Amino acid sequence: MVRSITFLLPALALSFSPPPLPRRSVHQLVLSRPNLLFSTIEEAQQSDATVALPHDEQYSFKMGKSVQYWLDYQPESTDGAENLRNAAARAIQQAGTDARARRYWSYHLARATFFAGQGAAAVLNYRLFDSSKSDSSSTPSSSSSYDLNLLDNDDGNDDAPETPLATGGFDVLFNFIGSIFPEAVATWEQDWVAIKDGKFSVPYDMRQGVRSRQVNPFYLADQSRRYIKEARSILTRRNRRLDSDIGAKPANDDSFPYPDYYKNNFHFQSDGWFSKDSAKVYDSSTETLFLGRQDAMQRLCLYSMSSWAKEQGVSGGGEGLKMLEVACGTGRLNAFVRDNYSAAEMVASDLSKYYLEEAKGHAERWEKFAKREDRNKKIGKFSVLQAAAEELPFEDNSLDVVFNVYMFHEMPTEARRKSAMEMARVVKPGGLVVWVDSVQKGDRPSLDDSLGNFQYLNEPHYPSHLVEDVPKLFVEAGLECFEKHVASTSKSLSFVKPKAKAKKEEEAF
Ligand SMILES: C[S@@+](CC[C@H](N)C(=O)[O-])C[C@H]1O[C@@H](n2cnc3c(N)ncnc32)[C@H](O)[C@@H]1O
Repeated sequence: MVRSITFLLPALALSFSPPPLPRRSVHQLVLSRPNLLFSTIEEAQQSDATVALPHDEQYSFKMGKSVQYWLDYQPESTDGAENLRNAAARAIQQAGTDARARRYWSYHLARATFFAGQGAAAVLNYRLFDSSKSDSSSTPSSSSSYDLNLLDNDDGNDDAPETPLATGGFDVLFNFIGSIFPEAVATWEQDWVAIKDGKFSVPYDMRQGVRSRQVNPFYLADQSRRYIKEARSILTRRNRRLDSDIGAKPANDDSFPYPDYYKNNFHFQSDGWFSKDSAKVYDSSTETLFLGRQDAMQRLCLYSMSSWAKEQGVSGGGEGLKMLEVACGTGRLNAFVRDNYSAAEMVASDLSKYYLEEAKGHAERWEKFAKREDRNKKIGKFSVLQAAAEELPFEDNSLDVVFNVYMFHEMPTEARRKSAMEMARVVKPGGLVVWVDSVQKGDRPSLDDSLGNFQYLNEPHYPSHLVEDVPKLFVEAGLECFEKHVASTSKSLSFVKPKAKAKKEEEAF
């Protein structure tokens, strides 16, 4: 039993992820510097090396030191077990530095253990009870459903490789855990350095201690129940690849004008973005996929907010700022951002009314906690808004900060272009736009050959995302490049709206 759980533990994530330790390409050999895996991010921050990347290097971003760190990043060895041991030792060493570090690391390692256990249980459940995986009548599909081209990937290649879940042996599995766990440790290390540097505060739900619902056994049991059920459906759809498994529809009485590409069940999640159940299981699903490091990757957007706020002389609580999150999803990150800019006015927008309901819940829990932590804390107005990123219902030049996380990879290029134009339109001269999404080709050369595998988790626009010239979209919309940061498999690009240019345009008008 223990043997099979060890075997199954990473298999769920494996089935979604690129194979470990990809072969080194010539490109990579040219770009690579010595292995920095177990040097600290602080050491990497001493380095002033210039970074050469496709697309981004043509623009004048101030490169955060994390860019070079992740460009160089390689698992230390080809032996998964050795990587695992070294990463665990690294985490323990980090945790031992002081009481604050101990809390930070205990919290993150506990979360990772929970998500790993949940992933193991889900795969076990799938392996034991799913009959469709041996159903020979389930033939892979090459056409789209609802005539919306939902399944046809941008690169025209729909030949999903068989999931390693069905074929992976111990060597593959160990190598996988040996690459993902050190990667998570390195991500937390970077996050912890940013916290110590004062870029943002420790996650508020960590400060909540036993009051956090994350330690409530009833909440955890409910989350696991939802996740295990959902993972089984996802794996079934992922592996049988039937036409009828692709796509999602809004309720009959829902007349909101959703774009066609949106009516899809990305990641094969049940109901796509169109149900309460989908919204309730989303955070748990994605955090399991990322072994608990998604939060830290999302916090990338706080790096450039912090630099911008310093430059602008923004007061601690961000009083007077108007902020907008585009495509906030469940609003978990939104609450982290408000925790750092608590007095700012915040609008959380998304196309899914079900996800917006979740976002309200996160906001309410954070507000309650923030008031308990400091009765005198000024808390800015919060609202949610159902709106498409391509058509933001705000006046020109009306917001100080606009941020957007993990949306572009689920859109066709034209929708990305329109969304960039809209974010640029609504931000004030001098204001900041922060974009976060998956790394692209060239950001992590060692992953270049395998990143594209994510498309097989019903992510039809992921191939074009990998090569999209994102800075071009924002620069053509009138913004100037600000900062670039990377954390594991996510990157952040930020932009500011030039003050002088906006003034000139006004005068010309
Ligand atoms: C992968 S989720 C990311 C959610 C959230 N930003 C996060 O980081 O957890 C993508 C989100 O984008 C939203 N979305 C997709 N297309 C959109 C559009 N055109 N306008 C507004 N929201 C959109 C979806 O409803 C979903 O909540």
